[in-house]
Amino acid sequence: MKIKAAVFYEAGVPFQIEELDLEEPRQGEVLVKVAAAGVCHSDWHLMTGATKHATPVVPGHEGAGIVAAVGEKVTRVQPGDHVALNWAPNCGECFYCLHDKPSLCDAYVGPIWAGTMMDGTTRLSKNREPIYHFSALACFADYTVVPEQCCVKLDKDVPFDVAALIGCAVTTGVGAALNTAKVEPGSSVAVFGAGGVGLSIIMGAKLSGASRIIAVDTNETKGNLAKAFGATDIIIARPDTNDSIRNLTEGRGADYVFEAIGIPAVQEQCLDAVRPGGTVVLVGISSMGSSANLPGALIARQEKTITGSYYGSANTARDFPKYAGLYQQGLLDLDRLISRQYTLEQINEAYADMLKGETARGVIIFPA
Ligand SMILES: NC(=O)c1ccc[n+]([C@@H]2O[C@H](COP(=O)([O-])OP(=O)(O)OC[C@H]3O[C@@H](n4cnc5c(N)ncnc54)[C@H](O)[C@@H]3O)[C@@H](O)[C@H]2O)c1
Ligand SMILES: [Zn+2]
Ligand SMILES: [Zn+2]
Repeated sequence: MKIKAAVFYEAGVPFQIEELDLEEPRQGEVLVKVAAAGVCHSDWHLMTGATKHATPVVPGHEGAGIVAAVGEKVTRVQPGDHVALNWAPNCGECFYCLHDKPSLCDAYVGPIWAGTMMDGTTRLSKNREPIYHFSALACFADYTVVPEQCCVKLDKDVPFDVAALIGCAVTTGVGAALNTAKVEPGSSVAVFGAGGVGLSIIMGAKLSGASRIIAVDTNETKGNLAKAFGATDIIIARPDTNDSIRNLTEGRGADYVFEAIGIPAVQEQCLDAVRPGGTVVLVGISSMGSSANLPGALIARQEKTITGSYYGSANTARDFPKYAGLYQQGLLDLDRLISRQYTLEQINEAYADMLKGETARGVIIFPA
């Protein structure tokens, strides 16, 4: 079938809206009519060259829609189901899946990074030349074919734009607080970067019962937004940010510090902002191959813990419905996370707005 998609060709060249060919879903695959796709910074890392990927590729990894057709042997979903899309499909059988770490599944990581379906081939093409799928989802398109493990069925009452955000920002951020850090009630938390992911970490910290939640961002407009999601204190990033964090935490530093930007210098700053015995959680994705300085002596003497958090250490089959339920109960204010809706043709404008740092999350909406 013919579809309309945003295609990424090379760093620095804007997304191109093009007509592509999409094959039918094969065994174990699902055709999804995409309803909404979130504007996450991880797609933008392609544009700066920070993330390397086979091209041309259709990005978009924060999506939701309706199952339009299923391939052979698909058991998880059927046509008409509403689904949020999981960008880290897991096999259920490898070491990590069996040890409750499905976001680290190593059986599927190869094809996902090759930009293909699990059998190593693409369903997307143009003039018979393959077009690659970003993170098995490629949902900056009105239709997509995905492995069935990417489909998590949600209640039809959950709006598609909200469901899309559960597909990345919410699961990544709320999960970083709940699953990765396991933030304890009464604790102090600092979050560097208040974008869609950082604001979701703030929501997760609030849900955990943190008593002090400090949001740090370079952009002043993020202050009110962060407060609305539960931040108790706002710091506009400046050279003495960490002194301010210590002033707010009885001189110690925060119990938990999250980096939700992806800048090595800020990752180092987080290590200084956390108290002895505290935990730094790296959520932001820095350039492939970049590294941060590890002050080993200090980490040893002060027993600081540094951990990564990928997809909020999620089990998406468990966590997507859980976050949708918390939204329905009014405990996750996901409507507020959506600052603006765009058409697919406005995708470059949507990313320009994200880079200005004024939006919580932009979402691309596809015609019904
Ligand atoms: N670990 C994961 O599984 C995962 C999943 C999704 C996204 N990410 C990554 O998380 C990061 C954030 O994503 P997002 O979509 O929220 O991005 P975003 O662009 O919406 O938000 C980033 C925020 O950081 C702020 N910022 C920029 N530089 C800063 C600085 N020096 N100090 C303080 N604040 C600064 C910006 O003003 C903005 O508010 C990205 O690197 C993204 O790739 C990671
Ligand atoms: Zn994302
Ligand atoms: Zn696995």
